[in-house]
Amino acid sequence: MSDSTYDVAQYAHDLRQITSEETDHKKIVQRIRPLAQKLAATPGWLENAHRTCTSERGFGVHLLHEEDDHSNAVFLIAWLPDRGTLPHNHKTWAVVAGVEGEEQEIMFSRVDDGSKNGYAKLERSTDTIVTAGDVTCLLGEDIHSVWNVGEEMSLSLHTYGRHINHTGRSEFDTDNDKELPYIVEIE
Ligand SMILES: [Fe+2]
Repeated sequence: MSDSTYDVAQYAHDLRQITSEETDHKKIVQRIRPLAQKLAATPGWLENAHRTCTSERGFGVHLLHEEDDHSNAVFLIAWLPDRGTLPHNHKTWAVVAGVEGEEQEIMFSRVDDGSKNGYAKLERSTDTIVTAGDVTCLLGEDIHSVWNVGEEMSLSLHTYGRHINHTGRSEFDTDNDKELPYIVEIE
């Protein structure tokens, strides 16, 4: 998989090509998966600034690329140890590739019918540890949480069909069965 010349610009070119050829989101993420893995394994584009985590929740979201219409958005997200997200969806396809460290990804299923505004009942399902070389793919309604379970900062490469602050996505407060709008601070 190693290709020391592969960079964000080439990846963005490949994303444009794939998303112009495919409309099925499952096919899009399957074609992007090996390319995200290749970019994650190619350290040339990674800068020290990408290790900044200033959000109250202990992570930092760094935009590497998006198109003018906010499509094909690529982020490097850094997480402090023992910090992470609430369960959330993306309302667009997503490909997440581990770069450094150990991130626990927990999947959730929604068991209410979505008819009550602001209410959501989730059930925890599978969980996996994402480390360097691993890639996970999600579709728009899939719900996951991410937590840095390692002792060092973790880094992962996230690619979305659309910039995540432009999809109208949600996060979920499972203690109170609430669905809330989810906007992240970009570093
Ligand atoms: Fe996510």
